[in-house]
Amino acid sequence: MNITICFDKLDPAPWVRGLQQAFPAASVSAWTPGAAPADHAIVWAPPQQFIDEQTGLQTLFNIGAGVDALLQLRLPPTLKVVRLDDAGMSVQMAEYVCHAVIRHFREFDGYDADAVSGKWSYRKPRSRADFAVGVMGLGVLGERVAKALQLFEFPVNGYSRSPKDLPGIRCFHGAQALPDFLQATRVLVNLMPLTAETENILNHGTLSQLQKGGYVINVARGKHLVDEDLIALINSGHLAGATLDVFRTEPLPASHPFWQHPRITVTPHTSARTLREESIAQIVGKMQALQRGEAINGVVDPRRGY
Ligand code: NAP
Ligand code: GLV
Repeated sequence: MNITICFDKLDPAPWVRGLQQAFPAASVSAWTPGAAPADHAIVWAPPQQFIDEQTGLQTLFNIGAGVDALLQLRLPPTLKVVRLDDAGMSVQMAEYVCHAVIRHFREFDGYDADAVSGKWSYRKPRSRADFAVGVMGLGVLGERVAKALQLFEFPVNGYSRSPKDLPGIRCFHGAQALPDFLQATRVLVNLMPLTAETENILNHGTLSQLQKGGYVINVARGKHLVDEDLIALINSGHLAGATLDVFRTEPLPASHPFWQHPRITVTPHTSARTLREESIAQIVGKMQALQRGEAINGVVDPRRGY
């Protein structure tokens, strides 16, 4: 078995070592242009040249959950694309989102500002019944986030493409249900994949349907959000603010208004990082399952786009 590794801006050496340890008889190497053909590839944002040269590939393992960048390449129709399926990301996403929701709900930014000026001042307790959280995307990450939010007794709504039945979560599905989902939601968490259907889905028309004082947490992809519509709705007072981890251009340019906006919190695409050991273990397990002729989770449907 030949395995090639091709990463944009990430050292492949520890991955080569991990895969080689799991498959001592295999040839495992970091890709260079003109390298010998491989059977399986482990990739993050590879160039089109890699795909064009590696014509013998059976499986392409993406070391992230989102495959939007990969699906923009010209891929052979027979190539099986496999994404990471949790691999330690869902617990990170749950802690990030719960932290953002609770910081907003409990007004901790205000207490931080008070502390800077030595001010001892209580804020009036708010009712969590007035802070329904809506999770867009109830997949591997979204479901975990929704269940984590339930532990803090927030009312939780969920939105997906296909119908779901999750205990205690008010589930909506399909584009026709989007207005009802938004109108029932005050804090919106985006965890959908970026596809032709979801690009720019967080825009003036949708975000203005959130309940007054709404709050936006985008942890999926920057291209889901129309930046200027978010800023306009925060400045008009309809939305209270946002926590954003993903951006249309990354790194977020220094001149972007999100950096300086007093009601927007920015983090550098870090809400759920790829964990190397967990990811290698998952990919090795899937390669072994494929060798045994078994089905695996996380196979991408290119027509759906995720
Ligand atoms: P997933 O398991 O594939 O779940 C995707 C969910 O989105 C599914 O519930 C799906 O509905 C729903 N969905 C897809 N298209 C939809 C549409 N048009 N309308 C309504 N719902 C739709 O993906 P995941 O592993 O949870 O990851 C989700 C995304 O998180 C990734 O694609 C990636 O962009 C992002 N992410 C970000 C970070 C970060 O650090 N910021 C880290 C990891 C992942 P069905 O259940 O009906 O199919
Ligand atoms: C990160 O954004 C991922 O898709 O895993």
